[in-house]
Amino acid sequence: MENKKSGDFHPETLAVAFGYDPQLGMGAAKPPIFMTSTFVYPSAQHAKDVHEAYFDGTGPLVGETNHIYSRLGHPGLDFLEARLAAIDGAEDAVAYCSGMAAHSSIALAYIRAGDSVLHGRPIYGGVDYLYNVMMPQFGSHVTSYLDGTDEDHVRAAAEAAMAKGPLKLIIAETPANPTAAIVDLDLMVRIADEIGAKQGLRPLVVVDNTLLGPFAQRPIAHNVDLCMTSLTKYCGGHSDLLAGGISGRKELIAQLKLQRTTWGNHLDPFTAWLVLRSLESVSVRTERAMSNARLVAEYLRDHPKVAGVTYLGFLPEGSRQRAVYDRQCKAAGSTFSFHLHGGEAEAFRMLDQLKLMKVAVSLGGSETLICHSASTTHYAVAREQRLEGGITDGTMRLSVGLEHVDDLIGDLKQALETV
Ligand SMILES: Cc1ncc(COP(=O)(O)O)c(C=O)c1O
Repeated sequence: MENKKSGDFHPETLAVAFGYDPQLGMGAAKPPIFMTSTFVYPSAQHAKDVHEAYFDGTGPLVGETNHIYSRLGHPGLDFLEARLAAIDGAEDAVAYCSGMAAHSSIALAYIRAGDSVLHGRPIYGGVDYLYNVMMPQFGSHVTSYLDGTDEDHVRAAAEAAMAKGPLKLIIAETPANPTAAIVDLDLMVRIADEIGAKQGLRPLVVVDNTLLGPFAQRPIAHNVDLCMTSLTKYCGGHSDLLAGGISGRKELIAQLKLQRTTWGNHLDPFTAWLVLRSLESVSVRTERAMSNARLVAEYLRDHPKVAGVTYLGFLPEGSRQRAVYDRQCKAAGSTFSFHLHGGEAEAFRMLDQLKLMKVAVSLGGSETLICHSASTTHYAVAREQRLEGGITDGTMRLSVGLEHVDDLIGDLKQALETV
């Protein structure tokens, strides 16, 4: 499929057919893997023209697919980035060697000493650490909001952030890891516009779309600036690779790509090929995982040992969160949390009794994974901040996979008997 036709097709079609042109691969139906670190030029002048086009954006080769050295870009990245951008409905995309490489590249691109960042809580522990521990070492400030659907609350948090220094980034992870707390993306864009008018520089709205993935939630359609996805999760889909992607407007992505050259955190040819391949089936895989997840969540909700289940599909009719969900999400996802009566001891007893589900961090793989959030993914987040974000000592995160749902429920049933 020619890349220029992406607007004519649904994302499910683009995920299978877009990004790779067989003419570029000697007619091979599937993309070859270009395992090379460097690229050869037919002449010295051509080498110069390629560098001019890459670094200055000028010269005769602008817009041509010429490569220099695989850290700067390679054909596998071209295919993957074109496909990812098309699926996300964005102008362009950039791929990294992990989701955290994508997040830290955003931080390094936009945050300078004295700048402010606003993010929701809870948020993935690695992102929490990036903005609360790492970036402050370079002089940045951080503020968090707790309810990303409450306009007054978010506005007050944004004003507080701006009081500390120019607010450059508004980060929304939605649904949030691990509690599936929802953030209103239209609200974030509105607040960014307001803050932009006040401080004379509009903050960028960055969305982490990892938990729902590109088919169930389409942040770019809500006019956010950058849509980040840990491709390690649903897009990779088999718990066998690490990758991250960012989609957005051409000029923002061009800057990130140029900086990636120096940070050296690009995605390698083989992993890019694996992700490109996995993207073809992500919509059907997530459909199955989501239908399994609903049944598992319903089972847990009715279980006497379970104090609560935070699953998007259970948001009460008439609530503010439900209104956001209906406007923003096509489905409830397959990663959610449940909260046991009791704390760490009960949680550990249950985990150690599981026979099918694997005790592991990560999510979005074909197999069901479960973990105790406070002692694993959110270990480095202070306890009071965890509690503030709804992560108790009995909170378990479940990423429901593709197994037969009766086997999953059976495994939980026998393990919960130990609690
Ligand atoms: C919501 C979210 N964002 C980002 C990341 C980081 O992605 P990666 O592990 O690919 O670096 C994770 C990892 O669990 C995540 O859950």
